[in-house]
Amino acid sequence: MNNPLKFPEGFLWGAATSAHQVEGNNRNNWVEWEKENAEWLAKEAQICWQSWQQREFPEMFNSKNYISGRACDHYNRYEEDFNLAKAMNNNAHRFSIEWSRIEPEENEFNQLEIEHYRKVIQALKIRGLEPFITLWHWTMPVWFASKGAFEKRENIKYFVRFCETVAKELKDEVKFWIILNEPEIYAGHSYLKGVWPPQKKNLISYLSVMINLIRAHRESYKIIKKIKPDTQIGIAKNNIYFEAHKNKINNRILKKFIDWWWNFYFLNRIKNYQDFIGLNHYFHNRINNFKFNQNENKKISDMGWELYPEAIYHVLKCLKKYNKPVYITENGLADVKDENREWFVKESLKNIHKAIAYGVNVRGYFYWSLLDNFEWDKGFWPRFGLIEIDYKTLERKPRPSSRIYAKIAQSNAVEIK
Ligand code: BGC
Repeated sequence: MNNPLKFPEGFLWGAATSAHQVEGNNRNNWVEWEKENAEWLAKEAQICWQSWQQREFPEMFNSKNYISGRACDHYNRYEEDFNLAKAMNNNAHRFSIEWSRIEPEENEFNQLEIEHYRKVIQALKIRGLEPFITLWHWTMPVWFASKGAFEKRENIKYFVRFCETVAKELKDEVKFWIILNEPEIYAGHSYLKGVWPPQKKNLISYLSVMINLIRAHRESYKIIKKIKPDTQIGIAKNNIYFEAHKNKINNRILKKFIDWWWNFYFLNRIKNYQDFIGLNHYFHNRINNFKFNQNENKKISDMGWELYPEAIYHVLKCLKKYNKPVYITENGLADVKDENREWFVKESLKNIHKAIAYGVNVRGYFYWSLLDNFEWDKGFWPRFGLIEIDYKTLERKPRPSSRIYAKIAQSNAVEIK
């Protein structure tokens, strides 16, 4: 190997998934929403996507694309999937527990489903994969959504009770919990842009959801810590590299404000209630003349997102002030042809290495995603997986980039050219 960049000893290498996106046959608020919205989402595709995307992914015009259905059937095939993760020399894996399976009706907990997740955890452990468990990755039981979900302060107690129940059951098996996945993305899409359930566009609702999610995190943190004091608890926070173009003063002012609100507000409010920071990172956003997204877009993913691996270095640098271990809990791209994945992962890792040299305590990296999966309101066409899924046969096919990732994990190093 040519000049390898070594990662710290004990570094965790893994990939991430979330229940609704891979399990299949869920019964939650998203499933209800899909049924009502699949038709218009298929029609909207015409105006949402560029012609090259429409040509390459004609499934976006089919309403079935927007129904999660059996997804990857990971609920039944998790052992096969974990064998593939193990074959990639991974030593960790991030997944989420589906609240609507555990508590399908208010205050009725399903012990069989708890046992299912216990088996999932055991399957990881016997393969030498450390479980990182997300307690909330956006979906919720229908009864909770009907009560107004996180828009209402009085509903927080239901979520905390769910976390408490799961933590009590699994406390001896799990060391790492992630309470919330990307609260700001959820609140923004569901209550400000109005594109995800419950499709509201209301500033007050948006702010209430943000504040209540902060409260939900803190309360759940306290309760899980009481159950198991030495457990490690964090968040999966979506942070963006806002760049002030040419460092001009007006761009810097806007950057300062948006950094405060998007990147740091939530983290500051929970800073005494987290043992590590989970970073989900996808975006660079260049600010110029009071306009966002003035990116060069030299390389883009299948979804049109700019591929700008330097961004993760900047985002990580800003987390140093929290003085906590950092795990990259998501980073990846949609790339059906697997053309850019190797380059993107290696470049991102070089930048993570640079952040470690700068003094950020990064301890692990989870690629998003282990498998191709159901990409929310976009459906199945975006392909994020290291492992390709044939949705007709459910056959799993490791992409060439997964072999590169396996080498990186095995050597705990990335090669530089
Ligand atoms: C989410 C994932 C999603 C990924 C790619 C993240 O914001 O946590 O659920 O699939 O980004 O869009």
